[in-house]
Amino acid sequence: MSRDKVTPYHFIKSKREGRRLVMVTAYEYTHAKLADDAGVDGVLVGDSLGMVIMGYRSTLPVTFGDVAHHLKAVLAANPRALVVADMPFLTYEVSREEAVRNAGRYIKMGADAVKIEGGVEVIDKVEAMVKAGIPVMGHIGLNPQRFLVLGMRVRGKTAEDGSKIYEDAKALEEAGVFSIVIEFTTSEVAAEITKALRIPTICIGAGPMCDGQILVFHDLVGLNTSPPPFVKKYAEGYQLFLDALKRYTEDVKSGTFPEERHYFKMAPEEYSRFLEILNKKKARSGS
Ligand code: KIV
Repeated sequence: MSRDKVTPYHFIKSKREGRRLVMVTAYEYTHAKLADDAGVDGVLVGDSLGMVIMGYRSTLPVTFGDVAHHLKAVLAANPRALVVADMPFLTYEVSREEAVRNAGRYIKMGADAVKIEGGVEVIDKVEAMVKAGIPVMGHIGLNPQRFLVLGMRVRGKTAEDGSKIYEDAKALEEAGVFSIVIEFTTSEVAAEITKALRIPTICIGAGPMCDGQILVFHDLVGLNTSPPPFVKKYAEGYQLFLDALKRYTEDVKSGTFPEERHYFKMAPEEYSRFLEILNKKKARSGS
């Protein structure tokens, strides 16, 4: 496997050459290192951190600074994988200027690309970012940042909704995005979009016909105890950590941990000198 850094160009080339792309979210150094060691093509510092890291009920409270903080930790792993910074709610919707400035700040930090949610309604922002030299990943179908208006349901169940999502995809490609995440749509919609675009589609809960897949780290390793219905769990992470923490708790309470191999001792003569010093101190202070 080549160890060359993955770029947006690599994503487009992968589609052209029929190679499927793998992405996972990452929020810290160890996640990024694990993902890179597993050979994924891209990591997303997703605003899903609002739920899986901060315990919020939605992604809406996530700030520019929250993503910046976790991006810094991911970049510290110096991943070969493409690093995509997710732009949180209200960091790109208000104006083209804000969108470019905020996206540019993530790029200056070291992100390889940014992702924004939305279709035709954000096209002017995408165009402005691409014009500024910022690689942009789109995100259509279910847009969690718009759940108050659109709900958290499967998209593309009707021909009309499917064709709206298709138009979003075509407009984003036209505006210059290098890839599009399709979240929680019917598989027919994702398949038709994938066939129609030159850029790769990365699906989450939208079926097998896309050019790649992405999952949230905590969902795939089983740390999320109530994952979305489209998730495949590859480990029982929650139970694994719970068992470890329970055994640790029992060991400390029973005095089984730490054992002799877990601590370090003074040389006997140093220990004698140490006791002498303490005794003198105690004598001086009268204790
Ligand atoms: O924030 C995130 O994790 C995402 C993925 C669901 C694609 O946007």
